[in-house]
Amino acid sequence: MHIIRQVTSDICWIGASDHRLSLFENIYPVPQGISYNAYLLKDEKTVLFDTVDAAVRQQFLENLKYALDERPLDYIVIHHMEPDHCAEIADLVRLYPEIKIVCNGQMQKMIEQFFSLNLPADKFIFVKEGDTLNTGRHTLHFIAAPMVHWPEVMMTYDTADKILFSADAFGTFGALNGNIFADEVDFEHFYLDEARRYYANIVGKYGPQVQNVLNKAAALDIRMICPLHGFIWRQNIEFYLQKYRQWSAYEPETEGVVIAYGSIYGNTYNTVALLAAELADAGVKNIRMYDVSVTHPSYIISDMFQYSTLVFAAPTYNGGIFVNMENLLRDLTAHNLQNRRIAVLDNGTWAAVAGKQMKEELAKLKNCVILESSLSLKSALKADQLPQIDALVKDIIAA
Ligand SMILES: Cc1cc2nc3c(=O)[nH]c(=O)nc-3n(C[C@H](O)[C@H](O)[C@H](O)COP(=O)(O)O)c2cc1C
Ligand SMILES: [Fe+2]
Ligand SMILES: [Fe+2]
Repeated sequence: MHIIRQVTSDICWIGASDHRLSLFENIYPVPQGISYNAYLLKDEKTVLFDTVDAAVRQQFLENLKYALDERPLDYIVIHHMEPDHCAEIADLVRLYPEIKIVCNGQMQKMIEQFFSLNLPADKFIFVKEGDTLNTGRHTLHFIAAPMVHWPEVMMTYDTADKILFSADAFGTFGALNGNIFADEVDFEHFYLDEARRYYANIVGKYGPQVQNVLNKAAALDIRMICPLHGFIWRQNIEFYLQKYRQWSAYEPETEGVVIAYGSIYGNTYNTVALLAAELADAGVKNIRMYDVSVTHPSYIISDMFQYSTLVFAAPTYNGGIFVNMENLLRDLTAHNLQNRRIAVLDNGTWAAVAGKQMKEELAKLKNCVILESSLSLKSALKADQLPQIDALVKDIIAA
């Protein structure tokens, strides 16, 4: 059965959610599912904005058919060629022979790479930054958003109703369950963490490119944001824009300490647990601690985008860094985090090298201070090392 919701008088949401997917992009756990948003505009012309993931194809095609109500489909506007949004292009060309594909040249190449459709040139309307398409009452303005988070990405601004179709930007993990507007749910309480985890992990590497688009958006009167995942924004948009400004500038949102540790036998854990207690004694709030063997790195990276100070602690493992910690560090440096204070602790029974190697990896992060004080355990914490913990606490709170 069709499941659609009206967004404005002439735009409806015809996307779908997947509650069964265990790993989005085969990496990120999505315990609350994921939504793939597609929108249909019924003006003098009919315009579809994007499609959905193959997993929800049937629901989407049913929604589209119902929403069109026997009208032809004139245009599909493509914002992003990642398959979670374009899996049904071949279906559309087959089912709606009159359709024109509104996209850029890079997208056309990607359509051929993914789907081998051999579409004739007259199937396409090529657009670039600044171009417009009039559909009757609406005029669609196309905005290039390269590397947010793929090179071909475009956004559309509808001047009639002042809507920004923002592609993957402003999305969140989590299915849509009836409510499709952020103002219909307690977003800050239930979804902000997942929105941050989505941002940090999917888009986080591309802060400068996001800032570029935010600058273009600042010149527009935006009354609604329609992203490709998660909720539509029509109230308090400034709240979410401000989050994006902060995240993309790699500015911490909250004073606090994220401690990520690895531990095989528990001695490294014991040491960071003591450090955490001493930090708390010294008045530090918002201490978040994660075992890198237990918590998926996407959650830890998300917290590291939120908080101001980071502590990494891990044993030496086969002449290197404990594997799950090494994985986290590489993932973090790949995401380009900046402007943090960082402390490093390590452990080893015969030749501790993890501390040196962790610092080498962390040195790739721009504008970060790696604290002088550190601690190297030889198997377990010794009483004569307690002053080093005190020194570390002092150094961490010195900021
Ligand atoms: C597979 C394996 C490889 C290890 N490789 C090294 C090593 O190369 N150098 C070293 O000093 N210790 C090595 N260790 C020992 C641990 O780093 C050391 O026992 C450490 O104290 C464990 O800390 P934990 O109690 O927090 O797990 C290794 C341990 C294991 C299980
Ligand atoms: Fe994407
Ligand atoms: Fe996406």
